[in-house]
Amino acid sequence: MKKAYLFIFGLLLFGNTEILAQVNLIQNVSARKTVLLDGVWDSQVDVVGVGSLARFGLIQDRKPTKFTYNGDNPRNTELVEQDMDVAEKINVPGDWNTQKEKLFLYEGNLWYRKKFAVIPQANKRYFLYFGAVNYEATVYLNGIKLGQHKGGFTPFQFEITKELKSGENKLLVNANNTRGEDNIPTKIADWWNYGGITRSVYLIEEPETFIADYFIQLEKGKLSEIKGWVKMSGSQKAQAVNVEIPELGLKQSVQTDTTGYAVINFSSKKIQHWTPQTPKLYDVTISSANDNVKDKIGFRTIETRGTEILLNGKPIFLKGAAIHEEAPFRTGRCYSEGDARTLLTWAKELGSNYIRLAHYPHNEVMTRMADEMGLLVWSEVPIYWNVKFEKPEVYANAENQLLENISRDKNRASIILWSVANETNESEPRLQFLKKLLEKTKSIDPTRLTTAALLPKEGKGEFSLDDPLGEFVDVMGCNEYIGWYTLPAELASSIKWTSKYQKPLIISEFGAEAVAGLHGKPDEIWTEEYQNRIFENQVKMLNNISFLQGTSVWVLMDFRSPLRLLPIKQDFFNRKGIVSEKGIKKMAFYTLKTWYETK
Ligand code: GCU
Repeated sequence: MKKAYLFIFGLLLFGNTEILAQVNLIQNVSARKTVLLDGVWDSQVDVVGVGSLARFGLIQDRKPTKFTYNGDNPRNTELVEQDMDVAEKINVPGDWNTQKEKLFLYEGNLWYRKKFAVIPQANKRYFLYFGAVNYEATVYLNGIKLGQHKGGFTPFQFEITKELKSGENKLLVNANNTRGEDNIPTKIADWWNYGGITRSVYLIEEPETFIADYFIQLEKGKLSEIKGWVKMSGSQKAQAVNVEIPELGLKQSVQTDTTGYAVINFSSKKIQHWTPQTPKLYDVTISSANDNVKDKIGFRTIETRGTEILLNGKPIFLKGAAIHEEAPFRTGRCYSEGDARTLLTWAKELGSNYIRLAHYPHNEVMTRMADEMGLLVWSEVPIYWNVKFEKPEVYANAENQLLENISRDKNRASIILWSVANETNESEPRLQFLKKLLEKTKSIDPTRLTTAALLPKEGKGEFSLDDPLGEFVDVMGCNEYIGWYTLPAELASSIKWTSKYQKPLIISEFGAEAVAGLHGKPDEIWTEEYQNRIFENQVKMLNNISFLQGTSVWVLMDFRSPLRLLPIKQDFFNRKGIVSEKGIKKMAFYTLKTWYETK
């Protein structure tokens, strides 16, 4: 089965860490020579999956019927039981659930087809790049199966240099969002299972040998040392590659080795470090014999010191909000600049310097905009709740999604935390699974911190962090819902928080539900007053946790979930947003904003 391969590079001693493996995603696709294949596609719902049977002629064009009676025109007698030429249309990118009422609850196969014409050039290479397809994609070009991909929130690509035809090409994608207990995430998750080609699709043209990937960041803990690598792909892997940061007067020519790989080192005392207040991005240009890539990269360091988190060597308190990839106003999966700007502007209005992009990698527009707007990011893969930790194939899927996430976003200054789990029950298989994932994360990217959203041990008047996974993360995340799921809100301020580990804590979720605009007494559940009462008590408690270095309220905006059934109040929405999906800020928004102003 063709899928993103793991390239094993030569060893790079990066500090005292080795860079061992990457997935082979083209870095910074929007800066490449591309044809955007977004727009109106043909679509065919296929509830039982018959479309893959040859007799339906969906994958390869059907042959006209052989038997005909004297004089019959074979075309007229042909038994065809699908016809994408007259099938319904659907927009790409975009989940199918919010595009068609009949697909709102649909879970299964949906076939997408896009016809496009190109004239491939000699000595060029061509790739199809998908921003994301939820959950499993099987891709065919001109009747040839290119491969499959699992995971609904990370990019994947196929080289199609051989399969691309001059003139009209037919791209066919089977997207299947059927949940599975061996999937990542598993069958039950508190968010809507939006299916389909949910992010952009690109046809990429590259020179025969091109700049495939690069990693350019400050070395861990070094405010003046930029360190990284470039990776060439093609037949002329070993060649001179120039890396330039004009504004800093930095230019270096490196010689890639036979694997196409070269280390980059720059020193500069002039770097203006990226911070939420001054999110400085530098133009970085990488050029080789036949290729040239421009990117905008911020330079900052992120470390821990005891129970502190240090940004550029200075302690920082992360004032944040968790965000689901639910589109404001229209609902459905986010994919646009407008979606991202609306959500991140609300976060900034809250007084945030940090966001938790829950519970899966968000689209690249979002992480690049966090770079521009100065929001630190907790990025995570959907290892959520009851994952089958004992199954090797489940680990392989989880690791692949993690590598794809890190590969795509490794040059984003905003991203400071890679999270490997959310509320996973303690067990030995779970500990081994996540330990291995954390080691892999550090080996690929030693510059950032690792974390996971743990659960506290609830004792009498005491909440403690003693999850064995705490030993292996840099920063402990912890979700708690005092006042909503457990204990009366007024007891929050009397809770004593303790930790087995001398590490920073982020309360990665706290909150309560409220229907925007529903008002009543503070003891009336579902009212804004009730939600606000919990927030007023939460902040009293949060002020008393000595090793607390950040909070991400759950959640910035109400989002769709199949677990939230209460008619009128929820109607398939989780109402823990401090802003409604219609953009209405609730009372709790202002209580939290006021508290953040004191931090
Ligand atoms: C959990 C979980 C979230 C969920 C939230 C809730 O902590 O991490 O995904 O939405 O609780 O119950 O609202």
